[in-house]
Amino acid sequence: MDKLKIGVVGAGFIGQVHLEILSTFPDVQIAGVMDVEKGRAKAVAERFNAKVYDDLKQMREAGVDAVYITSPNRTHFDYAMQALELGFNVFCEKPMTVSLKDALELEKKVKEKGVVFQVGHNRRFAYVYKFMKQKIEEGQVKPLSFQIKMNRGELLNPPWTSDRNYTGGFLFESTIHLFDMVRWLLGEIEEMYVLGKKSVYPDIDDWAIAMRLKNGLIGTFTSCAHASWMIPFERVEVYGEHNMLMNEEMEKVHFCKGLGKEVESHDFMKVDFKEKWGYVEENRLFIDCVKEKKAPPVAVSDGVAVIRIIDACYKAVESGNAHVRMEG
Ligand SMILES: NC(=O)c1ccc[n+]([C@@H]2O[C@H](COP(=O)([O-])OP(=O)(O)OC[C@H]3O[C@@H](n4cnc5c(N)ncnc54)[C@H](O)[C@@H]3O)[C@@H](O)[C@H]2O)c1
Repeated sequence: MDKLKIGVVGAGFIGQVHLEILSTFPDVQIAGVMDVEKGRAKAVAERFNAKVYDDLKQMREAGVDAVYITSPNRTHFDYAMQALELGFNVFCEKPMTVSLKDALELEKKVKEKGVVFQVGHNRRFAYVYKFMKQKIEEGQVKPLSFQIKMNRGELLNPPWTSDRNYTGGFLFESTIHLFDMVRWLLGEIEEMYVLGKKSVYPDIDDWAIAMRLKNGLIGTFTSCAHASWMIPFERVEVYGEHNMLMNEEMEKVHFCKGLGKEVESHDFMKVDFKEKWGYVEENRLFIDCVKEKKAPPVAVSDGVAVIRIIDACYKAVESGNAHVRMEG
């Protein structure tokens, strides 16, 4: 069996999570590692029996089929464009880009090249959110309204997390995952009323957004960056007619079946985080899509759609025009 050769650009935390998972797949060979920190590149390459490369061209010439872009946010666009130009299949961590302009340019390039391009919105494969999606699809909960929050404890560690030049903005950090959940679980946004302010840090670190979806659902979405890591910092609550769904991060999910009825709860505390956060499944699907030349489960258009929402939020706050009507 010919193994699929994989390379990684950015061998930090999430790069190594992907490599650990890929190293358990019998049909994958970890072939190349790139990182600006040469010592880290060497150590990670040794750990996974791979070679260190200085650039993507070298990696491609060595026969690598697919590349994971797991470097910091702002570098994703340039690496993704280069990788596509060289004919790689690409797994790009979120945020796909840190501007809508770049996201649209990237989408054009993906279409032109016809390779597999998957975005790292892993929540779609997390146990808690798959459970919610299933209950909604089965009609056991017919969503009418919702409340969503995604908090961070601080923007102190590492210090660059409060620097918008580095991250693209606080909303491009973990918050982006929950914008993806709005679309994936509940539907496309029609209009938003967006409030944001700088409370503690130089970046806008408090957001309160009211949403109306195209299917008529209404809901609220908040994200704050100075909440002190009080658990649960990530929660989606979906309200039906006297029933509801709710999660506590990736650890627990609850389904309240109705007035006076039982609550079905699932606890994933003991499950390995790579599984319960959805990383194992997103990697397996990416590899299968490359091998079978299939469309990926999280497409470049999904990457563009969440960046369009974030772009609209920043424009709303910066222009002082809080009301946003989404295009399309
Ligand atoms: N989907 C998720 O759940 C998830 C989780 C964590 C991080 N991420 C995303 O993954 C990316 C990396 O995050 P992380 O937590 O692994 O960060 P990290 O700082 O642990 O790792 C980043 C690595 O990239 C290297 N790097 C920096 N600049 C580079 C460049 N120009 N070229 C090549 N390598 C470079 C660094 O030396 C470091 O080894 C970020 O975009 C982040 O938003 C996604």
